[in-house]
Amino acid sequence: METVSFRLSNGMMIPAVGFGVGTVKDLRARGSLYIAREFALEKAKDLFVNHYKENNRYPILKDIKKEKMIPQMIQAKLQSVWGGGKILFDTARAYCYSEEVLGDEMRKCGISRDNIFIITKVTNIAQRQNTVVKDLEASLRNLRTDYIDLYLLHWPQTDTWLDSWKVMEQILSSGKVKGIGVCNCKPHHLEELLRIADVIPLVNECECHLLLQQNDTRKYCREHGIKLIAHTPLGRLTEQIRGSKELKEICNKYQISLSQLIMRWHYQLGDVSIPNTTSLSHLSENEDIWDFELLPEDMEVLKGFDSDVRIWPDPDCCDFTRL
Ligand SMILES: NC(=O)c1ccc[n+]([C@@H]2O[C@H](COP(=O)([O-])OP(=O)(O)OC[C@H]3O[C@@H](n4cnc5c(N)ncnc54)[C@H](OP(=O)(O)O)[C@@H]3O)[C@@H](O)[C@H]2O)c1
Repeated sequence: METVSFRLSNGMMIPAVGFGVGTVKDLRARGSLYIAREFALEKAKDLFVNHYKENNRYPILKDIKKEKMIPQMIQAKLQSVWGGGKILFDTARAYCYSEEVLGDEMRKCGISRDNIFIITKVTNIAQRQNTVVKDLEASLRNLRTDYIDLYLLHWPQTDTWLDSWKVMEQILSSGKVKGIGVCNCKPHHLEELLRIADVIPLVNECECHLLLQQNDTRKYCREHGIKLIAHTPLGRLTEQIRGSKELKEICNKYQISLSQLIMRWHYQLGDVSIPNTTSLSHLSENEDIWDFELLPEDMEVLKGFDSDVRIWPDPDCCDFTRL
């Protein structure tokens, strides 16, 4: 099957469903002392189980085991290219070794670069230090490529981001990126940007899931030819989503899983989505959404879940130095 894609306002095609590589903290780079410490912490975990519960924090070693699955996920995703399709990966300079791991896996797989669509992002620190161009060079090195498909400003960092956008526009004319865009922007950010921009962002990648549906942002984006990319698209399947009887009933009706319901909902809203997973079966499940269509009344039920609940910081009131 051909990759299902959307057309961006500059004519580029972007796959409707991608893979969010997420943060990868490479163990090798952390050294054996670090691993020993993590191991000891895991051993001590049972003693501190209440602390973990109170802090709503996963055991560290479990996180690392999950991260170790990421190269396999990237490889599986790459191997699913056939029939001239494209594979979309979302990564960022801020996700530790994520770019390097993706670069390694792309090199190993032997698949043509033309079949891969890469999104990566400028760090907030590069915005503050005025080193956006250097950041791009580092991303190109990490990813072992000579161009990025979509290069994004990671956050609308107060005081720096409009100047950074002007640098992004210059970068675009260098040919090292095919398109530029933003992340985590609300309509008022976009309004501010459009006042100074010579190039309109192709995309706005923002937190978007059942509990934070971004209807105003989507409307604004649509009116200005900006595609919304939904990050954290499954809302991490939190209890409020997993525990819902209403959602279970809709899933039963279509004989689909909860993640398929949510992924299809994103597609029908016209959003690109980039879920992350460390499970091969989840990976294929999340893409198996093309042979059913949600009826308007079911889309309406899903709309009722919008409740302004964020997993990530609100770009209007956050400490950008910690992101
Ligand atoms: N631009 C930005 O500022 C920004 C910010 C945050 C995130 N992002 C992007 O968004 C991507 C995804 O975000 P995220 O990982 O935070 O949230 P997510 O994709 O909404 O949720 C991932 C979680 O859902 C689970 N999951 C995935 N598929 C599943 C399935 N079919 N059944 C059951 N559980 C499933 C995964 O567990 P399993 O591993 O067990 O499947 C994982 O715990 C990131 O990797 C990143 O690329 C961008």
